[in-house]
Amino acid sequence: MPLDRRHFLLQSGSAAAVVTLFGQGCAVPSTAGSNGDALGFTGVPVSLRDTVVVPPEYEWQLLYPWGTPTGIAGQMPAFAPDGANSAADQAVQAGMHHDGMHFFALDARGERGLLVMNHEYTDEQLLHTDGVKVWTADKVRKSLHAMGVSVIEVRRTSTGWQQVQPSPFARRIHGNTPMRIAGPAAGTPLMRTAANPAGDQVFGTFANCAMGVTPWGTYLTCEENFHGYFGGPKDAAKDVTEAQRRYGTVPGTQWVEYWRFDERFDLSRHPNEPHRFGWVVEIDPFEPSAAPIKRTALGRKRQESATCTTSKDGRVVVYMGDDARFEYIYKFVSREKVRPGTDTAARAANRHLLDDGTLYVARYDAGGRGRWLELAHGRNGVDAASGFANQAEVLIHARLAGDIVGGTKMDRPEWIAVHPHSGEVYVTLTNNSQRGDAGKPAPDAANPRANNLFGGILRWREDGGDAASTGFAWDHFALAGDPAQAGSGARYPAADADMFGSPDGLHFDSGGLLWIQTDMSGQVIGKPAYASLGNNQMLCADPATGRIKRFLTGPNGSEITGCVVTPDRRTLFVNIQHPGEARDDGNATPNSAWPDGTTPGSARPRSATLAIRRRDGGIVGT
Ligand code: FEO
Ligand code: CA
Ligand code: CA
Ligand code: CA
Repeated sequence: MPLDRRHFLLQSGSAAAVVTLFGQGCAVPSTAGSNGDALGFTGVPVSLRDTVVVPPEYEWQLLYPWGTPTGIAGQMPAFAPDGANSAADQAVQAGMHHDGMHFFALDARGERGLLVMNHEYTDEQLLHTDGVKVWTADKVRKSLHAMGVSVIEVRRTSTGWQQVQPSPFARRIHGNTPMRIAGPAAGTPLMRTAANPAGDQVFGTFANCAMGVTPWGTYLTCEENFHGYFGGPKDAAKDVTEAQRRYGTVPGTQWVEYWRFDERFDLSRHPNEPHRFGWVVEIDPFEPSAAPIKRTALGRKRQESATCTTSKDGRVVVYMGDDARFEYIYKFVSREKVRPGTDTAARAANRHLLDDGTLYVARYDAGGRGRWLELAHGRNGVDAASGFANQAEVLIHARLAGDIVGGTKMDRPEWIAVHPHSGEVYVTLTNNSQRGDAGKPAPDAANPRANNLFGGILRWREDGGDAASTGFAWDHFALAGDPAQAGSGARYPAADADMFGSPDGLHFDSGGLLWIQTDMSGQVIGKPAYASLGNNQMLCADPATGRIKRFLTGPNGSEITGCVVTPDRRTLFVNIQHPGEARDDGNATPNSAWPDGTTPGSARPRSATLAIRRRDGGIVGT
């Protein structure tokens, strides 16, 4: 038994609880029978090669690179390799920077389905023929159209997976798509704008990072770094509030110049517009005409993930990370129970479930115990005296409410995955180079390393095995990095675990294998102290044994993100995001031309989806 686990057992409360906690994981490998030779594949070495590497007994094929027509009938403009597609073209083509993704099966065999994926952000140098030394209103529109969500239909044929074009399901949701705002904050004063005095409708979703899937079969897309798109004249920064500073919506700090051409992005003119971003957005992939809905009951943050499970009594529970240094992990528990099923009637019956419930923030105490702290107006010191007029303001400024109740400030919470058998919850904490800096929070039990360059994976078990519990036991599954580096503090659950850094994407398949994806910044890949970790990669872990084996390495400059295994467990879909992104000034030649070119500079690099299978058609991860 690894030391880490023994520590967790000792700390995790009553003996009975311990048996429940690990009965499945320890006594019988949770993967026995169904998993065959779990992690039986040939591990791949770290790599700095500008290509995708998978085990020799596997193969991958490319799907839906940036600019590919989404498949909307009568609107399928071809990709222009020189960046010449118009804003209107981009609105019906694959966006940039593929991220969180799910496969919704359309047949019982799972060989036909909908791939729904996020497009997180844009590389303006690649998006426009002449870059953005000069911004225009058209470039702003094209940029907004290159983010959001794609719904594509895919089918497996004798020659592999193919995109179905046209498809009645094909859909692009982007930064200008009309959508609704629902839940307790909808219609309240901070949500009202000149364009929408009712505060219940908004144009678009963007900065879509990780995701979730509801028990009733809808897709949740998460708005992460929305702040970078809002801006304004620098001198307006003197008027910003504490909340605006905390959320990073400060004039003069914008990443792009949208505000000069689309006035809703000008913070000095429309200070409430950013309140309408930073939410979990629910999309019904089977209803192409249904408006997406922003679910304000889940709280506003730099939303990374929205991972769903159900409580013992049948309510939906949503786990969420807020990916910024020293931000929180959240949980939402619905008031009503889930009506079972994923058909049209079930989706309709659960339509309001995410609008009413309780939001909590996590506190990880020393000794391996933790508490969920309620964020409710009038409780735990969150009230008018502490600056919140009502529950809507608590939700819109959830980070500030989290401070008051005493949540634990984490090392950038990214994806969250729930073990399909045990209900154990795993979260990636990607890194935090400011942990322990002067004026910043010191290391603590859950975030134990100062200058945490490599991140790790923390996990917890809710008391009584009930996702709605307000107490839990936690431990570290892995503290990432290169154990050979002096003082690294790296700690893996098994001695022969393959090393990695900056874990981000995380997915449990139905057999209980944990897929881990990394996102080290392009600026540090291949440099000290990161050199021994190579390019970004994907690994497969078996929590039953603690073994971790490297499965895939990516092209130069890319991160690996988005992961879903089909219901038959024979195909793994993965996204390669931002190949070539290693430019300190944003202007130099990208360091990859993947997938279209073999030498940097020979083609614009494009994010894309991979369909990965065992050559013999066996279960992936074995
Ligand atoms: Fe978009 Fe936090 O990764
Ligand atoms: Ca991410
Ligand atoms: Ca990233
Ligand atoms: Ca990341």
